[in-house]
Amino acid sequence: MTAFKAATTAAIAEGGACLRAGRLVAFPTETVYGLGADARSDVAVAQIYAAKGRPVFNPLIAHVASRDLAEREGRFDATARALADAFWPGPLTLVLPVAPTGSVSLLARSGLDSVALRMPAHPVALALLRAAGCPVAAPSANRSGRISPTEAAHVMADLDGRIDLILDGGACSIGVESTIVSCLDRVEILRPGGLSRRAIEDVVGYRIDARRHVETAPVAPGLLLSHYAPRAAVRLGASDVKAGEAVLDFGGRLVGQGAVTLDLSPGCDPTEAAAHLFAYLRQLDASGAAGIAVAPIPDDGLGEAINDRLRRAAAPRG
Ligand code: TXA
Ligand code: MG
Repeated sequence: MTAFKAATTAAIAEGGACLRAGRLVAFPTETVYGLGADARSDVAVAQIYAAKGRPVFNPLIAHVASRDLAEREGRFDATARALADAFWPGPLTLVLPVAPTGSVSLLARSGLDSVALRMPAHPVALALLRAAGCPVAAPSANRSGRISPTEAAHVMADLDGRIDLILDGGACSIGVESTIVSCLDRVEILRPGGLSRRAIEDVVGYRIDARRHVETAPVAPGLLLSHYAPRAAVRLGASDVKAGEAVLDFGGRLVGQGAVTLDLSPGCDPTEAAAHLFAYLRQLDASGAAGIAVAPIPDDGLGEAINDRLRRAAAPRG
């Protein structure tokens, strides 16, 4: 049985106790809902993979409530410090060398000698992490290959009966996952996300190469190309709508053309569009349409992350 609870103080305390007992708790963050387990425990982390039905063991992000804990887990250089100072708590994940005092399990790290760390900004996430008192491994709280959840009801639809507790903290404000920045040999953006490339470049002081991620890229094995897949076929950059297609619009370009249309942002704001992306994909998929025509979306700001997720949604299914 999965308990579904509003994220009250009592429910958050119960969530912390669940995590300490090695069980699974889904919780809101400002990006997407996460499926949390004690990151120090291989046994607890293994249950995340089982609940999600993940085909492979990808390394997971360890979530922390404090900079102190983060510095015990990862080795921060000057760039990592500057990025954490500027953007934590928030939608930034740092990949760092594991610190000698690190406690994140090998399974959560997929055997790598680096660790992905994030301090989320959502008050419920921070309170839960404090209650747990340990780093919490948390991928998005969806079944493997499905669209990431931005509302507690999405989590329930995917994981009911497979996890212990869902904390409902309302809709996620950002709506796409965190931006992952590696600070290993050089600074690299491994996954575009809720923090724009430009904001990161402003802090590091130089331009970071845009490189398109290939699903086989060994550095971020979690970036499977056919991820976020709706049932309906997704067609990108559409300038018209074909019979049987629902429409994911941007800026009213395809207005009036489809039977079912949702506009990510009528005013062309990529931040607003990101917040709606996953919920709208779910809704259009649930409409029963055979396909989803997606209007072109510029790469500005969070547009880069939106287009990355849409390319994955449109990729041939593996
Ligand atoms: O917004 C988010 O980041 C959400 C919320 C719940 O915080 N979490 C999330 O976690 O998206 P997950 O597990 O779905 O994404 C983990 C990503 C994967 O692409 C994985 O390959 C990468 O992080 N990753 C983790 N550890 C890594 C490492 N040591 N080196 C390179 N990539 C790593
Ligand atoms: Mg995910």
